[in-house]
Amino acid sequence: MKKTHLIAAACIALSQASAYAQSGNEVNIICSGQAPWCSMIAITFEKSQGIKVNMTLKGSGEAVAQLMAEKANPKTDIFFGGTGDPHLVAAEQNLTQEYKSPLLPKLYDWAQKQAAQSGYKTVGIYSGPLGFGYNTELMANKKLPIPKTWADLIKPEYKGEIQSANPSSSGTAYTMIATLVQLMGEDKAFDYLAKLHKNIATYQRSGVGPIKAVARGEAAISISFVHDGPGEKAQGFPLETITPSDGTGAEIGSMSIVRGARNLEAAKKFYDWALTPGAQALGAATLQFQLPSNRETKVDPRVPDFRKIKMIDYDYAKYGQSAERKRLIQRWERDVNGQSR
Ligand code: F6P
Repeated sequence: MKKTHLIAAACIALSQASAYAQSGNEVNIICSGQAPWCSMIAITFEKSQGIKVNMTLKGSGEAVAQLMAEKANPKTDIFFGGTGDPHLVAAEQNLTQEYKSPLLPKLYDWAQKQAAQSGYKTVGIYSGPLGFGYNTELMANKKLPIPKTWADLIKPEYKGEIQSANPSSSGTAYTMIATLVQLMGEDKAFDYLAKLHKNIATYQRSGVGPIKAVARGEAAISISFVHDGPGEKAQGFPLETITPSDGTGAEIGSMSIVRGARNLEAAKKFYDWALTPGAQALGAATLQFQLPSNRETKVDPRVPDFRKIKMIDYDYAKYGQSAERKRLIQRWERDVNGQSR
């Protein structure tokens, strides 16, 4: 393209961007899902609704830190995705605002409950159970048995074979701690985590890191949301998942509108749109297999079937409290991560 044409194209893009901004016809979103899904959501919403999307990808812990830093002068309108606990923390800290979408009655009870217990400052957009991922080839080569229970993971044969994430940065890892505390009682859970620590090769920053590493043969086993398995398998990696037969927890991935959002009307439009079956189907279209929260969204057969998993009655309100979350993560840093392996 000639230089003059390039300049003309840039001018058109700039004037389009300023037209969007002037009309309030844009929305600023922090997306804590995986990149292909976030991009697909941004492109589809922008094209179908004529509202420009400015999207940044951030882990949910970092997202809350940004909302806190921007509190006096918010630059973000929507916080989309990531486990529910940071959304509940944001609600408690008054970083997000109440909104009752007309789509609420269409959602599963767990998604509506997430909304109700936050004073309607967040809402469930998906759910997915915690379990283990394993590399079938590595397990066979190393003659390792497939772990079936939480208790199995602390056996000496798995030393150095397991990856998890760090709960200070990962909602997946925090869900693991909260699940174990609810399953075993707090002191026993921390004894268990200290034993598990001996078998852990690495704690990754993000929750999907371990299952991606396992898929690529960098470790044999991961502690992960099992809905992150089928996407890796679909890309040809030798990966399977299993949920522990002694019971497990699940996340309620959530979405919130930021308090003081500059583009409130556009934010509400995005929020309502994101709860529709059409928008929620974009998850499976980009190989994301969480269970969508709208009862009418078509469920891909690769989405984990909760009816076949032994689920605990996870107390989202309690473990979403910022003081409880902080306390458990600090205890993990001190009693587990601070210990030698
Ligand atoms: O994007 C995949 C996913 O497993 C989501 O289902 C979940 O909300 C998120 O990752 C958790 O990410 P992290 O553990 O890094 O906070």
